[in-house]
Amino acid sequence: MSLRFSQRTGWDIGESSFAAAIREARASGRRLYDLTVSNPTVCGFEYDAEGILRPLSDIRALTYDPDPRGMRSAREGVAEYYSDHGALVDPDEIVLTTSTSEGYGYLFRLLCDAGDEVLVAQPSYPLFDFLADLEDVRLRPYPLFYDYGWWIDFAELERRIGPRTKAVVVVHPNNPTGHATHSAERRRLEEICARHGLALIVDEVFLDYPVEVCGTKLTSFAVGPHPVLTFVLSGMSKIAGLPQMKVGWTAVFGPQGLKTAAMGRLEVIADTFLSMNAPAQVALPFWLEGRRGIQVQILERVRGNLAVAKERGLEALQMDAGWSAVLRMPQRAGEVVIEMELLLERGVVVHPGTFYGLAGEGRVVVSLIGSAEEFAAGAGLLSTWTGEPK
Ligand SMILES: Cc1ncc(COP(=O)(O)O)c(C=O)c1O
Repeated sequence: MSLRFSQRTGWDIGESSFAAAIREARASGRRLYDLTVSNPTVCGFEYDAEGILRPLSDIRALTYDPDPRGMRSAREGVAEYYSDHGALVDPDEIVLTTSTSEGYGYLFRLLCDAGDEVLVAQPSYPLFDFLADLEDVRLRPYPLFYDYGWWIDFAELERRIGPRTKAVVVVHPNNPTGHATHSAERRRLEEICARHGLALIVDEVFLDYPVEVCGTKLTSFAVGPHPVLTFVLSGMSKIAGLPQMKVGWTAVFGPQGLKTAAMGRLEVIADTFLSMNAPAQVALPFWLEGRRGIQVQILERVRGNLAVAKERGLEALQMDAGWSAVLRMPQRAGEVVIEMELLLERGVVVHPGTFYGLAGEGRVVVSLIGSAEEFAAGAGLLSTWTGEPK
């Protein structure tokens, strides 16, 4: 008998033709302009190395204090972060995780049995598919539509709620559209969740990067009132540009009874893994305190690159915040493989819109945090691409 793996891991893990084309182009020594770089640690930002590394050698990390929610001092640091956002958050209602992704995993386990459903926006961040597969959860997309900015299609969202739906995920601001949930949208979401008995899961990893609304802070869902059970996720990857430090969190809000029940169960899930390491937890308040040093640089880069894209005549869809932009490219009738053509003809690497579930042809996604020189050169090459066959 041959061994059989679980069906949930039966993904197609072969190399895509796009990934193969990039690999081959790189191997050939061809100069590529990569507009997909989204790892902040390789984008030339100046990190405060001493301020980041010093707290890792704090003597307190030698004591093992296995609190399932994470060390109290670290949770207090997170509560402080929310207080800077005008929200009163109880450190005892925060659970630390090694990443936002792990936080999603915990929440899917908390809320869903195998086959239950969670609504997620489309377009959105593609990792959800895998996170849901791993927890045997089904994702049901609800559409965002574009009309001088992105909007949630509430009629469609409600139509997609079924008897097995347990939660609605909102990425605020969304990746890759940069759509920030407006306050009227938030109220509508909460009203729908209350009526259907659903939890609200809000991913705010890009909250601190408002782009178009220059200088204006986005409002966190941590700011009350919270008429429904609400989980707010964030973490160091984007807030402090430190994805390698592996720290995220989930803050829990909502009506008291539900909140207490959710916290109790979440604690058991977290206690089963106790995945946080002590040095990162000790360092977390220091990293949070120093976050503005990197945020200022990233925001300047994002705004600068977006301005360059527009100066070069590229059409970027309107966005509120985040690290990426959706570009509308000219298209050849019937063809959807623009990103491949851009790579082969111009040596420019962009993400296909389909990767994020973007409807409509001719949409590509670019990261705005890459080096200004590389971005300007790549944007220049993109802008002269007409989509016409040579
Ligand atoms: C919307 C969104 N949420 C979560 C993450 C992952 O964050 P973490 O590194 O904390 O898992 C990403 C990463 O790109 C993201 O775009």
